[in-house]
Amino acid sequence: MKAAVTVSIIFITGLCYYAMSSNNPDWSGNGNRCVGDCYESWLAENGSVVQQEKIKQIAAASSSPAELGETYYAQCIGCHGAQGGGGIGPALTGDITSKLEAYRAGETRGKQSMLMWSVAKPMTDSDINNLAAYVKTF
Ligand code: HEC
Repeated sequence: MKAAVTVSIIFITGLCYYAMSSNNPDWSGNGNRCVGDCYESWLAENGSVVQQEKIKQIAAASSSPAELGETYYAQCIGCHGAQGGGGIGPALTGDITSKLEAYRAGETRGKQSMLMWSVAKPMTDSDINNLAAYVKTF
């Protein structure tokens, strides 16, 4: 009986020791453990969540149309090439605004227009303007 109590005490002490030693504030794997000084320094470095959102919004608002278009263009590379050189789809040059508007409206332009309908359907007017601005930089 005594032995069992001793063994459990050693076991529980070990468990507590393990739990305490793993509570290392420098360990960034778990944000929930970042409290007190750790949280204060994180806050000083990154700002509050609200501040971070504001910074993101300002960054998005100050991006030029061509920059925003470049982000959107990531989905076009597979068919039109990184520099609009073409591939599955034709090479892209000049002002593509009216072409994208036509695809968005479900109009047939070439034989493979179907491929572009689903691509253009979700585009907003500003998406189209941004993409056109980016394609002009090629
Ligand atoms: C699945 C492949 C595919 C993807 C992805 C794709 N395209 Fe296309 N695109 C095509 C094909 C094929 C055509 C030719 C369609 C036709 O016959 O009318 C085309 C045509 C176009 C045209 C008309 C070109 C011209 O001179 O007539 C524009 C502009 C265009 N795509 C822009 C885009 C943009 C911008 C994206 C990304 C948002 C995109 N495409 C994504 C395959 C694709």
